Amino acid sequence: MSNTTLVPRDSDRKSLPGATAGPPGGTVGSSSSAELQTRVDPRHQAGANSTPTNSRGNHTLLAAKKLEKSYHKGKVEVPVLRGVDFAVRPGEFVAIVGQSGSGKSTLLHLLGTLDAPDSGEIVFEGNRIDNLPARGRDVLRNRHFGMIFQFYHLLPELTTLENVLAPVMIRLGVLSYLWQRQAHTERAKELLEMVGLSHRLTHKPRELSGGEMQRTAIARALIARPKLLLADEPTGNLDQKTGGEILAILKRLNREEGLTILMVTHDQAIARQADRTVRLVEGRVAAA
Ligand SMILES: Nc1ncnc2c1ncn2[C@@H]1O[C@H](COP(=O)(O)OP(=O)(O)O)[C@@H](O)[C@H]1O
Ligand SMILES: [Mg+2]
Repeated sequence: MSNTTLVPRDSDRKSLPGATAGPPGGTVGSSSSAELQTRVDPRHQAGANSTPTNSRGNHTLLAAKKLEKSYHKGKVEVPVLRGVDFAVRPGEFVAIVGQSGSGKSTLLHLLGTLDAPDSGEIVFEGNRIDNLPARGRDVLRNRHFGMIFQFYHLLPELTTLENVLAPVMIRLGVLSYLWQRQAHTERAKELLEMVGLSHRLTHKPRELSGGEMQRTAIARALIARPKLLLADEPTGNLDQKTGGEILAILKRLNREEGLTILMVTHDQAIARQADRTVRLVEGRVAAA
């Protein structure tokens, strides 16, 4: 791996401007922070008490508060989350575990603002995010969250390198992207080298193994230097050895780069490798 920092370290991190944070700015890019900030309804901003912070930066990065979510099957309401409470600190590697159907994916989707809770709050760096309008959610996902899924979700027509660059193209638009293409391409290649895929830059997803597709998805998730990686069963479709290799990459990113990771898994052996597990039972976090 090169010496380039692949994800922001704690010392590089500055909070999004929130009720407890300073003025806009920081490594996340002032325009996107400001963009996000203007779209946070000030009535819903977290107060100083809800996001504990100390001088060592041992604050809460992401918090779920009394999250509730039901699905509707015709007239029947199926409650899935019934008041989920937990918090993730910067630099933690947390596994969310629970039986199949216990609501792990539902929870991760809510935390990633891919879906909205029926009630409760999600707070990221002191800002409530569950009620952001679409544009604010897009900024959050494109700049601050990396996501990987069990089935990779790569774009089939794009090469490995293009898949990794896709979030940058979307964020910048084609013209700005072309202007800065070389720097972004260099970084994408570095990330692909880090996940061991330097020899697969021009392959399409159908020409890759499952493990290689997940490595590509990890590189894509890191291209924007996210503060939080959300992973839904990242090893769920892989054999044990390949799954172990993917987990080793995630652990290395956590230990060496300080990337905060929240990973859903139903596999106890995989979960044991995280710093801490959060268990979902009957729609709530079970006592440890
Ligand atoms: N879009 C949906 N519509 C209706 N029911 C859903 C939907 N998504 C998930 N469910 C139901 O919600 C429950 C939790 O699903 P999920 O969050 O995928 O669980 P897990 O990831 O823990 O296996 C399951 O009973 C599932 O059938
Ligand atoms: Mg699931």
